[in-house]
Amino acid sequence: MNQASQGQKESLINRVVEGKTREKLLDMADTLITVPVNSRTLSDIDLIAVGAYSPLDGFMTQADYRSVLEQMRLKDGSVWSLPITLGVAEPYLSQITVGQRIALAGEDDGVVYALMDVEDIYSVDQAEEARRVFLTESPEHPGVAKLYDQPSTYIGGSIWVVNRKPVLEFEEFHFDPAETRQIFANKGWKTVVGFQTRNPVHRAHEYIQKSALETVDGLFLNPLVGETKADDIQAKVRMRSYQVLLDNYYPQDRVVLGVFTAAMRYAGPREAIFHAMVRKNYGCTHFIVGRDHAGVGNYYGTYDAQRIFNSFSTEELGIIPLFFEHSYYCAKCENMASSKTCPHDSADHLHLSGTKVRQMLRQGQCPPKYFTRPEVAEMLIQGMQADPIL
Ligand code: ADX
Repeated sequence: MNQASQGQKESLINRVVEGKTREKLLDMADTLITVPVNSRTLSDIDLIAVGAYSPLDGFMTQADYRSVLEQMRLKDGSVWSLPITLGVAEPYLSQITVGQRIALAGEDDGVVYALMDVEDIYSVDQAEEARRVFLTESPEHPGVAKLYDQPSTYIGGSIWVVNRKPVLEFEEFHFDPAETRQIFANKGWKTVVGFQTRNPVHRAHEYIQKSALETVDGLFLNPLVGETKADDIQAKVRMRSYQVLLDNYYPQDRVVLGVFTAAMRYAGPREAIFHAMVRKNYGCTHFIVGRDHAGVGNYYGTYDAQRIFNSFSTEELGIIPLFFEHSYYCAKCENMASSKTCPHDSADHLHLSGTKVRQMLRQGQCPPKYFTRPEVAEMLIQGMQADPIL
């Protein structure tokens, strides 16, 4: 595969309508059945429309849904690992028929964001979906709990966005895939590694990012700022910590920071594939997958999210996954390391759980500098003290 062309070769879906077409569709919306959707679905709508979920141009029909569950592919064979679906309940469901055009409006603000042509209405077994996607049926799993919250009858069909989801925070870090592709091209980057995170960037993250940066032209630091579970550190606190880290420890011209507005699913291996496919759409040629990517609790093995990539060729993925072992600071090496590079005993390795780190930060204590850069820790302590529920 020609590395230089990856990430740029895939064409992007664009379902955002403007000008006269938009006005026409907005007028039409007044005459349509309007289905309210929550902010999680609104973020999917927006990401579909700007091509972040290319080749999806709407919510999945049953054929795509089944194919994704069973084979991690859309029915046309392209790689896709997570269902992107729209559950609808009464009183709306019985008013909708296949072939109908409907409007999708924000449940909080009543604004019509999209029109949808309903191509399919189908009921699903959510326990099966949970088993296949999350590898557990347990409602204790945060992704499964969200799935069970959604109605179990889905409607599928393409959408057109008539109003973009308002950008309420991190405005300067919001880029559509067409924009990031252009930014990378303007910088002359031929190879770009994408990094997904829902956490502050600790030394282990920094280590794997910089290891990747030794071989590619640029890093797209793309933290997820959509819905996360309640005990994850809030995006507004994390965003400040990313900025202070980049200002102090990264060459400015080799990193782009941009937010990823999707909700976190915690689907481990399948979400790693999804994250890679989306970053390809943003123009990345490479994607980092470390330990327990997108995992939660003990649902997934440490390297399951790497192994799942063996199910696909690099050609069909269109992006090269870069795998990293569990990394840590080793007191004997006096360096960041992993079992690939360090011969020492685990007693020499610095390991801190996320819970322990959050506890320290909440108490105003900086974790060791070998775990978190002091500037980052300070930012996190300030943020967490300002918002004690974190
Ligand atoms: S995630 O849910 O977004 O994957 P997190 O922000 O913790 O969680 O991880 C971001 C990326 O860094 C993932 O690819 C993850 O596998 C990787 N990662 C996190 N911690 C480590 C570590 N100590 N060693 C190696 N990779 C890691």
